Amino acid sequence: MISGKAKIAGVIGWPVSHSLSPRLHQYWLRENGIDGAYVPLVVTPDNLGDAIRALPKLGFRGINLTIPHKEAVMTFCDEIDATAKKIGAVNTLIIENGRIAGANTDAYGFMENVRPRLQGKAKAVVLGAGGAARAVCHALTEAGFKEIVVTNRTLEKAQSLATEKIAVAPWEERSTILERADLLVNTTSLGMTGKEALEIDLSALPKTALVTDIVYKPLMPPLLEKAKARGNPVVDGLGMLIYQAVPGFEAWFGVRPAVTEELRQYLLHG
Ligand code: ATR
Repeated sequence: MISGKAKIAGVIGWPVSHSLSPRLHQYWLRENGIDGAYVPLVVTPDNLGDAIRALPKLGFRGINLTIPHKEAVMTFCDEIDATAKKIGAVNTLIIENGRIAGANTDAYGFMENVRPRLQGKAKAVVLGAGGAARAVCHALTEAGFKEIVVTNRTLEKAQSLATEKIAVAPWEERSTILERADLLVNTTSLGMTGKEALEIDLSALPKTALVTDIVYKPLMPPLLEKAKARGNPVVDGLGMLIYQAVPGFEAWFGVRPAVTEELRQYLLHG
């Protein structure tokens, strides 16, 4: 139950009905006995500016942004942190004293999810070059990866990610470039429920390479099933969703929430 003093946060998307974030934050609110609420808000791109500007006036402590607003929202922030600027996307707003601060916690979420399995790994292949790939590449660069190869259907988008550490390969070469990888990350929408399959031959990938997918619907997309079947360690994408939510929850509600197996099971099965 919430009182008249409840702390309010939420997620803005279009659509937003698919989002697991309300369930996730409500779980943490309940676990921690916090007088608060986290609500889904459906906002069209045309109305994004009005909606964001209204948040401080309505007393919101913060907001998450999901598809398609992560880039457009940057125009309406009073300040943006260095990570979000580098990635070019904001997924978390922290609202204090009428000011809106934008942050990006996707890179953090990705890294926390795989960190325990990254020991000794330095070469990654990243499939895709959208917003999620930019967050993953930022996280890997910050984590000290020596060699990151990005491959994408639209080559120019991959080229826009190139740095001293990040090389680019044509999409047609996605199977052959795996021979040097000790981490493979899928950031494309391929393999997601209702989307096309990801066609990739894993035979060149070393058996010790960690394979992860940022998709969590299904929890085990065909890429992870295939990798697991040939003996590669795999990490599913649900942990990234959970970990990216931790900094926002802590900033808005004042408690650092715990990431537990019970929470994972709750999100999967209700
Ligand atoms: P996000 O912000 O979640 O990363 P996005 O920017 O729409 O979402 O990126 C989706 C990624 O999936 C892109 O890398 C996209 O490739 P393009 O840049 O060529 O569009 C990739 N993707 C989507 N459908 C694809 C398909 N049928 N084949 C190959 N890649 C695909």
